[in-house]
Amino acid sequence: ESSNNQFEVAIIGGGPGGYVAAIRCAQLGLKTALVEKRKTLGGTCLNVGCIPSKALLHTSEQFVFAAHHAAEAGVEIDGQVSLNLETVMKKKDKVVQQLTGGVDMLVKKRGITRFDGHGKLLGDGKIAIDDKEEITAKNIILATGSSVVDLPFLPQDGETIVSSDQAIAFDSVPENLVVIGAGAIGLELGSVWARYGSKVTVVEFLPKVAAGYDDDVSKLLERSFKKQGLSIHTNTKVTGTKEIDGKLNVVAEKKGKELTFPADKVLVAVGRKPYTENLGLDSVGITPTDRGFIEIDDHFKTSADGIFAIGDIVRGPMLAHKAEEEGVAIAEMIAGKAGHVNYDVIPNVIYTEPEVAGVGITEAQAKDKGIAVKVGKFPLTGNGRAIASDATDGMVKIIACAETDKILGGQIVAKGASEMISEIVTHMEYGGSAEDLGRTVHAHPTISEAIKEAGLAVDKAAIHSL
Ligand code: FAD
Ligand code: NAI
Repeated sequence: ESSNNQFEVAIIGGGPGGYVAAIRCAQLGLKTALVEKRKTLGGTCLNVGCIPSKALLHTSEQFVFAAHHAAEAGVEIDGQVSLNLETVMKKKDKVVQQLTGGVDMLVKKRGITRFDGHGKLLGDGKIAIDDKEEITAKNIILATGSSVVDLPFLPQDGETIVSSDQAIAFDSVPENLVVIGAGAIGLELGSVWARYGSKVTVVEFLPKVAAGYDDDVSKLLERSFKKQGLSIHTNTKVTGTKEIDGKLNVVAEKKGKELTFPADKVLVAVGRKPYTENLGLDSVGITPTDRGFIEIDDHFKTSADGIFAIGDIVRGPMLAHKAEEEGVAIAEMIAGKAGHVNYDVIPNVIYTEPEVAGVGITEAQAKDKGIAVKVGKFPLTGNGRAIASDATDGMVKIIACAETDKILGGQIVAKGASEMISEIVTHMEYGGSAEDLGRTVHAHPTISEAIKEAGLAVDKAAIHSL
């Protein structure tokens, strides 16, 4: 028996995890429903995350070139370079609209039934939509994503103390922006507003920026950000706020000393948390962990029969491409195929200038785990294309097994590192060695040649460095 509200698969959440799962389910011939409460599909990533932030990073880089570097490059701009923030935001909104519209079209054309509203589990394969409509599915995939984390002593008000949701849409350039957290969001959006003229102060309680990377990589990045005018305070703990001369200040503590930073806006970027509000988890007997995650087995199965979970609400990095891969894998598993995600080879990128990208294990992690490794490094100061492109801030680092030469990880700081990292990812996916990298022909001149050189450097055989 088949009716309009009975499905083989129903997915709650239309972000990169959910919509990709829906498309793969439909491709595999499963009758699929997709429930999303936002008007547009694409989730955090397309609406308020990956995509709008990258649009702003792009336009702000163009502004910096025109305002500060054009003349030295021989590009004479007659008259003053000025910023029209309204146009910047309109352009960003257009990019988001184009992409969410595109996903909407894909979902429609695949014959997926879209339900517009909040989905809530009712048990027995039933889902209520906005408490008005009910659908039933043999398999349910939870892909409800994540939301912002608050600091208890610095509650967000959406006006002055804000999250990335607001910091991608300020209607004027804040004079003083204090960013709490030197992770992906803090560094990306801190860069955007610094480029547009804010005085940006980044406060981080760990000893370094971009904490997931090796120390040498973080140090190189920090130096580069400081050159761009960002003021960065590591080893610094934010403790609250106070008014000084009628102006809001963020109060922090560094080595026992109190610091105060005047702030017109404060961006809290200290991580995200799984979002499962009003999802009806108790009706199916699922209890989230104390940090709010939904526990799953190796096949994305929750503790409830027929209910699976993927993306930011489950363990692993909170990244769009990780959610997408899980979406594909779970769809294939439900269809009786062997879905698989290779968690050892998930790239991570921070899209600053220069960009930083990494995959696999770091040198520090190898040390912690007692894995003997050989490390090859190549600085971009020795790369012709980087010199010709004013892009010598950076390096490539390859971490290979000391015994087998197999590549275990790689990190890149470079203009375009986000694109370059795919080469290391692909070599790792096929079990490649550092020698394989070093013997792969690279087009000259490209910044990617630094990857080949770093591969050679693992055996001290780099050509263009000592
Ligand atoms: P989400 O994208 O959060 O989607 C979940 C969806 O479910 C949402 O649309 C929500 O409205 C919906 N939903 C929730 N509950 C219900 C319900 N009960 N009923 C109906 N609908 C519901 N990652 C990268 O890989 N690269 C980047 O460059 C990057 N940049 C980012 C920049 C910012 C500023 C932010 C905030 C995040 C960024 N991320 C980036 C992270 C990325 O956005 C997430 O990892 C990704 O969106 C997770 O996908 P998801 O499908 O698990 O969840
Ligand atoms: P994050 O986890 O990347 O960084 C948070 C930073 O804040 C850490 O360095 C942490 O040490 C610091 N911190 C935590 N509490 C603090 C405190 N009280 N005072 C000072 N510093 C403190 O989280 P972020 O940047 O908020 O991003 C959230 C999620 O979104 C991440 O999982 C990230 O992967 C994802 N994302 C990914 C992007 C990308 O792939 N380019 C871009 C933006 C977000």
